[in-house]
Amino acid sequence: MALIYWIPSFNTNIDIIDQQHRMLVDLVNQLNEAHQTGKDRQILLKLIEKLGVYAATHFAREEDLFEAHGYPNADEHLQEHDYFEDMLFQFEDEFKAGKQDLTFNVLMFLSDWLVNHINGSDKDYIPFLTTNKKISKLQDLEKRYRGNSSIVDDRDSSQNKVLKEDKKLYRGQSEADTNETTDNSSKKKSKMVYRGQS
Ligand SMILES: [Fe+2]
Repeated sequence: MALIYWIPSFNTNIDIIDQQHRMLVDLVNQLNEAHQTGKDRQILLKLIEKLGVYAATHFAREEDLFEAHGYPNADEHLQEHDYFEDMLFQFEDEFKAGKQDLTFNVLMFLSDWLVNHINGSDKDYIPFLTTNKKISKLQDLEKRYRGNSSIVDDRDSSQNKVLKEDKKLYRGQSEADTNETTDNSSKKKSKMVYRGQS
């Protein structure tokens, strides 16, 4: 049973953002299904890692749009992204170390945060980004990245390749930075470099 059902109010009507939001919802639902059907820790870990990588990639895309268009509430929005990433990466590290289990409370945190963010803060930037002045740039961005975003129902290993390619495109990282063995402190560091912080 799905934990999150997509409802019309989730739509931003910006195709690339909606596709990515649907993917995030799908990954949380996959994680819930794996939990409910008693899948082993390795399978759960793969899904947790996939969710972390995809969330970071999607956040970077939104932040790229904010940067390109001078969105005035970007700082507050980035803080929300950082909070989710911090919580998820911390959980991932603890799960990997055997200090935490995937519980219903963890799944509820992930689904609640995602739904509230998609239906709340993400809705705030839509009017700003979709004014006539900015829409052409948005369409250019969509065209530029569409080839790397065949997202939703691709659940096999090729999805990881797409995620890595996406991540490289947005952050200008080397292949080494997107290696499977990259730990979460490196992920955070990469994000800081992407944002021009030291
Ligand atoms: Fe967001």
